[in-house]
Amino acid sequence: MIRAVSRASVVVCTLLAAACGTNPTQQVSPAVYSPAHRTAADAAREFFNIRSKAEQPIPFPHKTHIAKKAVCTDCHESVEKGPIAGIPSVKTCMICHSQIATDKPLIKEVTAYADKGVEIPWQRVYGFTHESHVRFNHAPHIRAKVDCAACHGDLAQQTVAERSVDHTMGFCVNCHTAKKAPNDCLTCHY
Ligand code: HEC
Ligand code: HEC
Ligand code: HEC
Ligand code: HEC
Ligand code: HEC
Repeated sequence: MIRAVSRASVVVCTLLAAACGTNPTQQVSPAVYSPAHRTAADAAREFFNIRSKAEQPIPFPHKTHIAKKAVCTDCHESVEKGPIAGIPSVKTCMICHSQIATDKPLIKEVTAYADKGVEIPWQRVYGFTHESHVRFNHAPHIRAKVDCAACHGDLAQQTVAERSVDHTMGFCVNCHTAKKAPNDCLTCHY
């Protein structure tokens, strides 16, 4: 499988040089190298940036909320409806935290954002670079009953979300093969 995928990558590398710019380990000649990056080092920096550990402004505890029976869709409201799961607004936090644990220092920080009318500047954990030309859509996965944990790990064990699953092409394609989901290139690439 890995072999088949990398052969496919090489074919596309010559056709679609931009898609290769995100993979610094890939052997590509300068002639077909991504125009988006001047050097391999630039490409590598972008590659590692997006995968380096996000630093969140508040250590939001997923496990505490899930233990209190909050469900994913309380906060990631659009995950069943379309491509984007969504990150909750501070207004969503205040539905509960205008009443709950108001004396705790971290909740005072949350309240301070809400009082200023400013969103909490959460950093992204998952996602693709533009150069990878990947399109993803949550809704068909939720409809097909693919568990959040298959792609994000067990959030009931996490404080802020961690990148516990690497969304490589092999990861997507292997499951699509197993579940007989479409696997032509344009399912996931544009
Ligand atoms: C459905 C209600 C609900 C929503 C919505 C909610 N929380 Fe909570 N949160 C709780 C409960 C319940 C606790 C546990 C409080 C306790 O242990 O006293 C908690 C605990 C916390 C804590 C830990 C506090 C501490 O120091 O122990 C933080 C931080 C927190 N929430 C931040 C947030 C943020 C940020 C949001 C919005 C993204 C949010 N919460 C949305 C109910 C909610
Ligand atoms: C089949 C794999 C898969 C499943 C299942 C899945 N996700 Fe995702 N999720 C992803 C990928 C891939 C991204 C990054 C998408 C992007 O940036 O284009 C992502 C991004 C996110 C984000 C960041 C905001 C956004 O929408 O881009 C949140 C939040 C999220 N997922 C929550 C969930 C929740 C909650 C569930 C279950 C109800 C879930 N995901 C199920 C693969 C998955
Ligand atoms: C009370 C609100 C709340 C609940 C409930 C909640 N989340 Fe989150 N989620 C957040 C907040 C706030 C962030 C941004 C901070 C972070 O990255 O942890 C986040 C971030 C994430 C991310 C990373 C998004 C990115 O930046 O790419 C994923 C994945 C995710 N949540 C999945 C889940 C899943 C799966 C569940 C249910 C098991 C869940 N969340 C339940 C509030 C919530
Ligand atoms: C654990 C299994 C699994 C993983 C992992 C997975 N998928 Fe899927 N995917 C599915 C299933 C099942 C469907 C639904 C197929 C259907 O509706 O017939 C689907 C559907 C899709 C669709 C909609 C296809 C269509 O045209 O209806 C897209 C786009 C997609 N996946 C992209 C991705 C990408 C990109 C990744 C990797 C980040 C990924 N998937 C990872 C199982 C998975
Ligand atoms: C089920 C979804 C899916 C399908 C189908 C798919 N890809 Fe990908 N592809 C991805 C994801 C996800 C990545 C990783 C993007 C990233 O991490 O930046 C990727 C990355 C790539 C890359 C960049 C180098 C690499 O291997 O990471 C190339 C080239 C590529 N795909 C070509 C193809 C070709 C050619 C096909 C058809 C034979 C194809 N892809 C089908 C999801 C898919």
